[in-house]
Formats: sequence, structure tokens, C-alpha cells
Amino acid sequence: MVSGAIRWDPERYAATARFVTELGRPVLEWLAPRAGERILDLGCGDGLLMAELAALGCAVVGIDASAEMVEAARARGLDARVMDAQALAFDGGFDAVYSNAALHWMPQAGSVIGGVRRALVPGGRFVGEFGGAGNVAGICAALNAARARRGLPSVSPWFNPSPVEYRAMLEAGGFSVERLEHFPRPTPLPGPLGDWLQTFTGAFLEAVPRAEHAALLAEALERLRATHLGPDGAWRVDYVRLRFAARRALD
Ligand code: BEZ
Repeated sequence: MVSGAIRWDPERYAATARFVTELGRPVLEWLAPRAGERILDLGCGDGLLMAELAALGCAVVGIDASAEMVEAARARGLDARVMDAQALAFDGGFDAVYSNAALHWMPQAGSVIGGVRRALVPGGRFVGEFGGAGNVAGICAALNAARARRGLPSVSPWFNPSPVEYRAMLEAGGFSVERLEHFPRPTPLPGPLGDWLQTFTGAFLEAVPRAEHAALLAEALERLRATHLGPDGAWRVDYVRLRFAARRALD
């Protein structure tokens, strides 16, 4: 759910982005966990979904690049560890690996897939959901327009593959793809879009003087008002999801 590239504050995350965990429930449905299974959560964040699996009787391990989030997950009594999912240190033993809203933070997708394959038993499941091609495209365009006005190049901080690209990566990594869906999921926010921008879009502030940060975000927000603010007064994020279920080939 989170990356080590920015500093994550579990309380702020819970206040502005708890809905991200809530919207991860379909991933658990596709995972179809059974009591007694050993399951690895890639990007476990503060462990809310892990706790549900533990309550079902699964033996769950979570990893996250953020020490603060791992600490929050441990405070729930969970087995959470600080680890980069692009350099997984597991060798077999897991019946399933799942990930919600985390893989778009990991550009080395081939390394993630290789590490998941090694972590799984033959026939084990890899189920996940993350931002696919077109994810938050309107928000990126507004932020990059504000950068361009300052003479700065566009940035594209997230890994958002098309379904064709991701299927090919999974297959090349030794998985057979059982289900793969790519769909828009415009999502109303519980609060202002400005809070979301502040929480997640630090990469767009690269090479921008600190004194200009607030102005750049305010400018992007103004551009988004016409497209992302609904008549009901709720801001919407233009999420596009890639949801998949794959299985490690039998050796
Ligand atoms: C996402 O869940 O797709 C996402 C979250 C934060 C920043 C960008 C994308």
C-alpha cells in the first residue's frame, strides 16, 4: 500500500486514505483465503486487511517499505516486517501472496514478480489490485501542467501498466493468469482533494523550491475543479484499477 520513497504517517494515512484499504476488499474475495493458509501481504500498510485474514485463521506475514506503517501493523499484534517488495527475501512457504494498492509504487515489477514466485509454493496464488494504465491521469496532467509553467519537465512517478503488458510480465515470470480486469473506478474522497495531493504527490514537487510547493499544488487543484469536483461537493479521484489473479506454475 505504501512505498519507502515518501515518509508515511499512519495517522494521516488513516484520516485521508482509509478508503483505499476499504476498496481493497474485492482483492480478498478473489484471494478466497482459507483457514490455515500461509499468506504474504505485499505493501501491508497499517495491517487492516492482514488483521481480517488473521481473524479467519490464516498465518499472515506483511511487508512494507515504511517503518512507520510496519510499526502500526505490529501494534495490531501482526507479523509485519520492513522490506522492499522489489527485493523479497522469502524462499517458498507461502500458499498465496496478495497486494492492494501498492504495486504502482514499485517500478521494478519484474523483480517483484520474481520474488513472489520464489516466495510461493508451486501452484500458489498471486492476487492483487493496483493502478493500471490511465490511473489518476487527470491529476497527473494538472500537476505536470503546473510544473511546465515553471519550466520543469513532466514526471510520471507510478508504474501503471496496461493489462496486455502486465499479463505478459506475469507469464514471463512463470505465472498463469486466471483473471485480469482493467476498469475505471472514479472514487469520491471523504475530504478535500488538496489533502490527497499533499499525501501522495511529493514526486511532482521535485526540483520545485519549497516556498513554491503550496502554490503548485493550489494551481493543480484549481485546474482540477472543473473535472474532479462533483455537483454533490465531493472531490473524485480518477483511479483506474488493474485487478488480477495468477497462479505459480507447478514445477
Ligand atoms: C492509487 O491507489 O492508485 C494511487 C494512490 C496514491 C497515488 C497514486 C495512485
